[in-house]
Amino acid sequence: MEEPRDALAAPSHTDPYAWYARLRVRSPLAYDAQLKLWVVAGPYLVEQALQHLQLRVRPPAEPVPKALLGRPTGDVFAQLVRMNDGDFHARHRPAVEAAAARFAPAAVAQATEAATRDLAPRLEANALLSAIPVQAMARLLGVAGASLDRTVEWVHEFTRGIGPGVDADTLERSDTAARALLAQGERDGLQPFAAANRIAFMQQSLDATAGLIGNAVCAALRQGEEAPDAGELVAHVARHDPAVHNTRRFAAADVELGGERIAAGDALLLLLVNEHPFGGGAHACPGDRIALQIAVSALRTLQVLEPLQDKFRAVRGYRPLPNARIPVFS
Ligand code: HEM
Repeated sequence: MEEPRDALAAPSHTDPYAWYARLRVRSPLAYDAQLKLWVVAGPYLVEQALQHLQLRVRPPAEPVPKALLGRPTGDVFAQLVRMNDGDFHARHRPAVEAAAARFAPAAVAQATEAATRDLAPRLEANALLSAIPVQAMARLLGVAGASLDRTVEWVHEFTRGIGPGVDADTLERSDTAARALLAQGERDGLQPFAAANRIAFMQQSLDATAGLIGNAVCAALRQGEEAPDAGELVAHVARHDPAVHNTRRFAAADVELGGERIAAGDALLLLLVNEHPFGGGAHACPGDRIALQIAVSALRTLQVLEPLQDKFRAVRGYRPLPNARIPVFS
């Protein structure tokens, strides 16, 4: 089998894990001149980078992508804990953690089962994967039944709007979605910061949790009768065929890492595979428990509704994403 072309092609490769394992040993930290990124593969160096105060989640010169400035999409982006460091992050992160901790395991399971039962009969496999986590989170956040479909659509539109290289039409839609989602939060009495991070709960759950459910479905199909129960399967997949393969950092000052000098302004790609499935350091995922519960409960419900192979048949490949691993079913 051909090796992945590079670290951004690896998440969508059929089986990139032997390549990752070799990279960790042969090239724990190296500059990829094609990608214009320092690729950090050694788990110890990844941990150091995640903890480093001068390695930031956004380029210091562009805290909000230029194309989003002055628009509702940019206003939400500017307030996300995921996209901020330093004082802003330290001040607001505890509220995000507290909000995530509020959802009891039984409530997450119930919201996910309801979402899966609602969506499975009317969506094909690939659309279903992307809709379940968002609808489950929307239910947990108290969105009324009649607004669930619209909310899922808005979250997808907003997520496309903050992606790289968006066109004018996508941005327009994303702005409309951002306005509508902010208004939902404000109707619940939330301040703008909390309303923006309420959106993040649905947006963050989208690709990552779709990937976790999808990779768990693949493992279940592969193992057939031999597959362990959904809880064990999802825990195994979260570590060994994870949904998020990498994350980026930007040097805010000259930094020494693994004996190399990373210059201020340089970008880094931290490989999270195996050792850091939910990140680490100040930005570690506060939704890890919720994500695992959504995946377990979605898989259990899907198995009850119909044989998995009737809905998901075969894996055709992976969505062409540079950071998330989401199977495409035929
Ligand atoms: C399989 C599913 C998920 C995976 C693999 C995942 C993974 C991650 C990772 C790797 C980060 C760190 C990014 C970085 O440091 O650059 C992160 C951040 C975050 N995740 Fe998740 N996530 C998942 C699901 C969720 C869910 C369901 C929620 C919400 C309930 C959530 C909320 C967040 C938030 C708010 C942050 C930003 C935290 C901060 O910057 O302080 N995630 N996630």
